[in-house]
Amino acid sequence: MADQQRIQNALRSVIHPDYGKNIVDLGLVQDFSANGGAVHFKIQNTVPGGGSTEAVLEDAIAAVQTLEPLARVEAGLTGRARANPAGSTGKGAIPGVRNVIPVASGKGGVGKSTVSANLALALAATGAKVGLLDADVYGPSIPLIMGAIVGPQQGGRGIIPPVTHDIPIISTGFFVRKDQAVVWRGPMLAKMVEQLTNQVEWGELDYLVIDLPPGTGDVQLSLCQRLALTGAVVVTTPQPMAVNVAEKAIIMFQQLKTPLLGVVENMSYFESRSTGEREYIFGSGGAKRISERWSIPVLGQIPLATTVRQTSDRGTPIVLADPDAPAARAFQEVAMQLAAEVSMHNLKAESESVVQINF
Ligand SMILES: Nc1ncnc2c1ncn2[C@@H]1O[C@H](COP(=O)(O)OP(=O)(O)OP(=O)(O)O)[C@@H](O)[C@H]1O
Ligand SMILES: [Mg+2]
Repeated sequence: MADQQRIQNALRSVIHPDYGKNIVDLGLVQDFSANGGAVHFKIQNTVPGGGSTEAVLEDAIAAVQTLEPLARVEAGLTGRARANPAGSTGKGAIPGVRNVIPVASGKGGVGKSTVSANLALALAATGAKVGLLDADVYGPSIPLIMGAIVGPQQGGRGIIPPVTHDIPIISTGFFVRKDQAVVWRGPMLAKMVEQLTNQVEWGELDYLVIDLPPGTGDVQLSLCQRLALTGAVVVTTPQPMAVNVAEKAIIMFQQLKTPLLGVVENMSYFESRSTGEREYIFGSGGAKRISERWSIPVLGQIPLATTVRQTSDRGTPIVLADPDAPAARAFQEVAMQLAAEVSMHNLKAESESVVQINF
């Protein structure tokens, strides 16, 4: 026991260069065990393409070997996310799904669907298994953005989602005829949420990203009440008008006791390709204002770029179509920050769910 503690402390000396925090507090050390002269652990790879995680792994191995020169160190990387302890079993859990993360906004058209799709792809690029649920009953756009042409199939145990760009996708758009206007009432929406989550064979997922309709209506309410969510991501533009409505969404999540994992500022600026000068078309400081007011981290800022829209319209979002483009890099940064937030959040939830017995 004492050894385990000492080794954990040694791992605590390893600071992740991308986050400036130690890897133990970030919750990135997984499957840790130390017994019989063998030390075993995995480092969660949160950076698309590996990045500095390889170096972190080397530092972690070195830290253990310095402390225990004779120990056999078995260490590696994993793309698997730490599971939401409330979400892996029990009420509101989706079997096999480690984290359920809705992407919300107050105002419509701020880029929820664009962020959801690119975020899902950037998380998948870290080695995680990711699913995408389009819960926007009024204007489902994920099938178009992800180029999911074929609909789901009925399997023996439930609905089998089509897999596009390695991501299983379910959209309300698959179940509604294109020429039909949908008039959904509260109970119907609640039933729909239940079916799309529990009757779908999602398989093993680290993250299920849910694209929500805009606003604070029945879909949001049903999701928060029926599912064990890890936490929500709020998308806003820098504009005060968008920020004000985003704050209503934040208040709703707080009232429903759904944690807020972070805010993404979309359409933050336009960068001139020739001069590199930034133009703040929708103003600036929106996400910062939310962050300061509600103590929610800013996960990143996405520039306004023609290629973001074009690639979405063609069914291959920018993170896949041009991973080195500035906007794609910004989405990768958001994914990395979100993975760290999820990890820290779940670690904290785990420690809080441990029952302390005092003799
Ligand atoms: N960073 C960006 N740069 C350029 N265009 C963008 C960017 N983000 C989103 N868009 C474009 O803006 C439009 C609205 O985006 P999107 O559909 O993702 O918003 P939304 O919040 O999901 O909208 P709704 O509320 O209708 O569901 C789309 O045409 C999308 O391609
Ligand atoms: Mg949308």
